[in-house]
Amino acid sequence: MKKQKIAILGSGAGTNAENICLYFKNHPSVEVVFVYTNNEKAGLVNKIKKLGVSLFSLKNKKEDFSVGLSFLLSEHDVDYIVLAGFLKKIPASFLKKYNQKIVNIHPSLLPKYGGKGMYGAHIHSLVIKNGEVESGITIHFVNEEYDAGLIIFQKKCTVSKNETIKSLSLKIKKLEHAFYPAVLEKIICK
Ligand code: GRF
Repeated sequence: MKKQKIAILGSGAGTNAENICLYFKNHPSVEVVFVYTNNEKAGLVNKIKKLGVSLFSLKNKKEDFSVGLSFLLSEHDVDYIVLAGFLKKIPASFLKKYNQKIVNIHPSLLPKYGGKGMYGAHIHSLVIKNGEVESGITIHFVNEEYDAGLIIFQKKCTVSKNETIKSLSLKIKKLEHAFYPAVLEKIICK
């Protein structure tokens, strides 16, 4: 059977992108065909280059990223799009073509702390400020609204009394790295 091809999209440090690439290296039925970033200065760039996985980036920030990306997706015959810290909104045309085939990970227990402007340290700082006793990760399909698509998987962690943004962010990253690739594998190899 043909291997299922995934493209990973990211804008930041790239720890999830790197982790997913490593997980699917030499996988019998899934392959990462390329990683795409809209930010040439992202930490992700060096991580992916080191792995030898194809990397494409948006050269001109003023350009509409979706034109070039759409070409790359067809050219590489991509089956699934995996978002790993991608900060651009996914255009409606992609959602139509990749119905329930675009997956995102979010560092909170959605629907809490989701939506526009909710990302990274900002989420963790609010979680602590509001005295939440738990937080976690959500893996979900992408739809027209930010962080509002069908939830596939959630994993909780405790927020302790002396939790800091840094310690919570480390806890959450650990969960992301432990679960995102395996959940993707389940979705793709169903
Ligand atoms: C992760 O926390 C993920 O939940 C969110 O963006 C962050 C990306 O981190 N969507 P990294 O670039 O993979 O390190």
